[in-house]
Amino acid sequence: MVTKVLLCAVFLVVEIFGDTKTDEDNCDLSGKWLESIKVTRDIWKMGFHRELVTTVECGPSSPEKLQTLLVQNLPRGVYIDPYQLASLQQDTGLQVVLDSEVDLEAPAYESNGLFMFVYPTRDLQHPRHLQAVVPIHGRYHRPSSGQGWEQLEIEPPRLFLRANGCAQLLPAPHVLMDAPCSGYNLSMCKWMEIQLPQDQRNISLELPVGNQSLLVPVCTGTLLATLLCCVIIANAIWRHGFL
Ligand SMILES: *[C@@H]1O[C@H](CO)[C@@H](O)[C@H](O)[C@H]1NC(C)=O
Ligand SMILES: *[C@@H]1O[C@H](CO)[C@@H](O)[C@H](O)[C@H]1NC(C)=O
Repeated sequence: MVTKVLLCAVFLVVEIFGDTKTDEDNCDLSGKWLESIKVTRDIWKMGFHRELVTTVECGPSSPEKLQTLLVQNLPRGVYIDPYQLASLQQDTGLQVVLDSEVDLEAPAYESNGLFMFVYPTRDLQHPRHLQAVVPIHGRYHRPSSGQGWEQLEIEPPRLFLRANGCAQLLPAPHVLMDAPCSGYNLSMCKWMEIQLPQDQRNISLELPVGNQSLLVPVCTGTLLATLLCCVIIANAIWRHGFL
């Protein structure tokens, strides 16, 4: 019995020592602090123009040179404006890379979803928080016969890490992926996926949509207003003798 316990203890010590050694080799991209990573999300603003805010909280012992990547799918009901992203990258340092062209005008029912790489940056007020505030815009939806709101669900992002200058990442079972190194440097880097806790949920937002039952009054009203304005303008032109 005693021998068994002793053997067990020796085995444990070897295991722990082995683990610590791997940690050093991997520039600290492992260890307990990984389990304390938390991703929280929020949607700011109202109406068609919102902000999707994702915050990654790292524990106090996370490496300084840690780089974070969020891979986010967006449903077809919203879009990202690449021109706005370009100007935000200059003004606020927001780093987002889109995987495809975006049609800014297409309504929801003629669009595909989007897929983007988001690189959160350090929040100056909370040095352990990395945050990205990405503006998203609602697409027009078909009018509904219901309550006049369309609910959209945004899936949780996938989280990837890398540390600058560290050649090695953790071996399997970690998933490695090639993705742009940052919003400024589109060379490919290797990123290691971090499994987030299972309780990550969709975040939802509601967009106003037209009400089908108001079709006749809205069209009649618009037509009458247009006719009235034409009459007023024609009258003014006639009275002032521009013709
Ligand atoms: C989360 O949203 C996606 C689409 O954005 C949807 O396919 C999925 O069913 C939603 N999951 C839950 C649990 O509501
Ligand atoms: C982009 O990142 C790669 C990998 O870290 C690096 O080798 C390369 O020099 C960077 N390019 C620029 C322009 O910074």
